[in-house]
Amino acid sequence: MELEDINTVAVLGAGNMGHGIAEVAAMAGYDVTMRDIKEEFVQNGYEQIEWSLNKLAEKDQLSQDEADAALERVTPLVDMAEAVADADVVIEAVPEQMEIKKDVYQELEEHANDEAIFATNTSSLSITELAEVTERPERFCGMHFFNPPVRMDLVEVITGAETAEETLETIEELAEDFGKTPVRVHKDSPGFIVNRILVPLMNEACWLVSEDEATIAEVDSTTKYGMGLPMGSFELGDQVGNDVSYHVLDYMHEVLGAAYEPAPLLEEKVENEELGKKTGKGFYDYENGGVDIPT
Ligand code: 3HC
Repeated sequence: MELEDINTVAVLGAGNMGHGIAEVAAMAGYDVTMRDIKEEFVQNGYEQIEWSLNKLAEKDQLSQDEADAALERVTPLVDMAEAVADADVVIEAVPEQMEIKKDVYQELEEHANDEAIFATNTSSLSITELAEVTERPERFCGMHFFNPPVRMDLVEVITGAETAEETLETIEELAEDFGKTPVRVHKDSPGFIVNRILVPLMNEACWLVSEDEATIAEVDSTTKYGMGLPMGSFELGDQVGNDVSYHVLDYMHEVLGAAYEPAPLLEEKVENEELGKKTGKGFYDYENGGVDIPT
């Protein structure tokens, strides 16, 4: 499959990442199907795309006509067969748990076009292990976007043990066509590059607070104003989603060892379903004041 052969992109998962990836693909002119397991999930994702496109139009980052046309190109669906029947590339962005993703790939393989490329937006899991569930490991790779996809430039393109060079090249070209900058990750290791560095940083911030060595406000002031990150570490955690950070760490802990043990504060947030912006509360309370980082 070459870039010129790609007309339709299916995105599996309409959550934070899925809807953002669908938006980016539609803005680049592709026909997009966005599939999730419940009607309310796909509708919610679709409304977030609409909100985001209108916001970009308000800020003159695209015209209102372009925003409307991009939205028109997105078809929200619940039926897997319908969602992937015509897809040339399927980008999977379902929850960051190996068993959930494997089940999705089994179902996907039954319905997808034989030539289609499967690209997973996993944040950490083994590309090789996921590819083994399918009958096309040579047409399977990682295509890892960053949150929020519409604003973040980078896409990690990750090779699995059997990924064909042609697949990687096509997905790199597709990322460029989406207006992104692809970076090839040549080794399929937990968390790849960005999350191997970033998620332990966010976890260490949680350890500092768990062990009463710093407050959330102190950590976010230092990470934002001292270390020059665009957001405080906890603010970023709330943006990414505490469940996502937790699952990434849990996997890195299992595969790489003790240094990656999730901090009690992070576990507590996940247990209490305080997952960040998407649930209205995480480290900050978005219904009562939101992020407040003292300078
Ligand atoms: N679409 C459209 N507009 C959006 C938006 C979206 N998806 N998300 C936010 N905005 C809007 C806001 O509503 C706000 O609008 P307003 O000004 O009208 O209130 C505006 O954008 C905020 O933009 P600003 O220009 O004020 O903000 P910044 O220039 O500071 O940029 C940012 C925002 C790009 C998100 C920046 O803060 C940033 O780079 N943060 C770090 C993000 C990051 O590191 N992401 C990677 C996380 S790791 C990851 O995702 C991997 C995963 O596997 C875990």
